[in-house]
Amino acid sequence: MHTPFDPEQACLESCESIRAIIGDFRPELAIVLGSGLGGFGDRIHVDHCISYSDIPHFMPCHVAGHSGNLLFGTIRKKKVVCQQGRYHYYEGHDPQHIVHPIRVMSQLGAGNLLVTNAAGGICEGFVPGDIMLIRDHINFMGMNPLRGTNPDGMGTRFPDMSYAYNSHLSAFMLEAALETHVFLREGVYLAVPGPSYETPAEIRMFRTLGADAVGMSTVPEVIAAVHAGMQVVGLSCISNVAAGLTEQVLAHDHVAEVVGSAGRQFEDLVACWIGKIT
Ligand code: HPA
Repeated sequence: MHTPFDPEQACLESCESIRAIIGDFRPELAIVLGSGLGGFGDRIHVDHCISYSDIPHFMPCHVAGHSGNLLFGTIRKKKVVCQQGRYHYYEGHDPQHIVHPIRVMSQLGAGNLLVTNAAGGICEGFVPGDIMLIRDHINFMGMNPLRGTNPDGMGTRFPDMSYAYNSHLSAFMLEAALETHVFLREGVYLAVPGPSYETPAEIRMFRTLGADAVGMSTVPEVIAAVHAGMQVVGLSCISNVAAGLTEQVLAHDHVAEVVGSAGRQFEDLVACWIGKIT
């Protein structure tokens, strides 16, 4: 018989298996690396690299540009856990599986979360290679990872999303951008389920709704993180101008390529930010 996924029990089991490897290593910051941004892992002095396939309740990671490892290590004297590769709704994963690593990283001690992604630029003037600090989001995915029985031990039934993106930690990102000479955009990220890219009419609608960038991830993780009481900061790497705003044809290979070439700036920015956060 199919037993329903119990998030609290699954979390305990994942953490137990991870702790058997990492011992008393206690990360303070969790990082989720989006498409093409996995290279940031090289900036971390890695103590432990655990493949998702070796952690109970972690699904295999299939998307190109996502490697599927949980890294534990140090950068700028901060202990971090880094999700090198994430799960997407369009892959067919249950929402609860998508957010499971977030809950595990929270349970392992991480009070702060940096989420990153590749996104299409909607705001006029955004160009490929730009980096955007996420100020807020719009959940257009048609799902919420907290649907179902609330795991009361993890968080409240009705979490407040008014301050989902922490202004204090975001202010440090603005400082880090000045120091690393990164021109940092700011805006609202809108999440769609994917995997098809948007139509030009959808993009015009999203712009009217107040979105500055569009992507297929991040929002479920941020909801689960807020639910778990984490302080969240988000960065989008603009990989393309959204559909209909240029003549360009959209393709995932191109997305990963553009994000990869903006990688150096992104990595400098994030490393500098990590040095600042308290
Ligand atoms: N739309 C949705 N998701 C994306 C895009 C886009 O234009 N670019 C990168 N991820």
